[in-house]
Amino acid sequence: MRIFYYSDSVLRWSRDQNPLFGFVPTMGALHDGHLALVKQAAAVGPVMVSIFVNPAQFNNKEDLAKYPRTLISDLQKLMVAGADAVFIPNEKDIYPPELAAVDLDLGGLGKKLEAAHRPGHFEGVIKILHRLFEVVRPGRVYFGLKDLQQCMVAEKLIKKYFPQIEQYNAATVREQSGLAMSSRNTRLTDEGRMKAANIYKVLKLFVGGAWPQNETALNLLRAADIETEYLQVMNLPDFEEASEPDEKKRQAVLFAGYLEGVRLIDNLILNSQD
Ligand code: PAF
Repeated sequence: MRIFYYSDSVLRWSRDQNPLFGFVPTMGALHDGHLALVKQAAAVGPVMVSIFVNPAQFNNKEDLAKYPRTLISDLQKLMVAGADAVFIPNEKDIYPPELAAVDLDLGGLGKKLEAAHRPGHFEGVIKILHRLFEVVRPGRVYFGLKDLQQCMVAEKLIKKYFPQIEQYNAATVREQSGLAMSSRNTRLTDEGRMKAANIYKVLKLFVGGAWPQNETALNLLRAADIETEYLQVMNLPDFEEASEPDEKKRQAVLFAGYLEGVRLIDNLILNSQD
């Protein structure tokens, strides 16, 4: 497995690859969700993984400082999962001063849920993905559906600037309890992890025709010490709030909230037509 620290050397590596090689952008602290993406990509051809805790997408300095950093074990996991190359840029190299701003109209995606609660977050995600795609130049890119809104933002970016890239959004990988795998889970106590499993239980109440009363759902979360930031069903792909089940529309219920001071997100696509 090759390890690169500078964009020039990544560019050289990528020029020698089949143009359809795969790319998995990450912020490290890798778990089985990330590794599933790497394995999915590696089953098709060579795969590069990037590890960069991107300061531009953190609206909260404490969250950035506390973000888990586990580089050595990440590299071990990537070798086992079959990654061919890892890109570990530093901030100076990945964000040169002459970097132009990326112009992308996100519509509702840029105003609602994650965008509303984490001002500047998606601007930061767009900034890093645009730069990484320019440097890495992959043929395929892999994201996890746990970050559903991010997947949709990436789709817009790719459609406008990198139409040659094929995007794959993989199903959320869950612990046995139903808790969605996340790098942030390592900041929860054992008890917190058990309580956090209630998020998935509440999301599942929205499957089928009868949605729970909002207050009922919030109370169930509250009983598990989870402070909800949003719990909302959205119509996809227009990302409009949905007030009732609609068989004809693709709908997803999205959650964000805090437990033990850790921000957790999750979602469930309710009537997947995939
Ligand atoms: O999902 C993440 O880990 C990050 O938002 C990403 C896509 C790697 C961009 O920094």
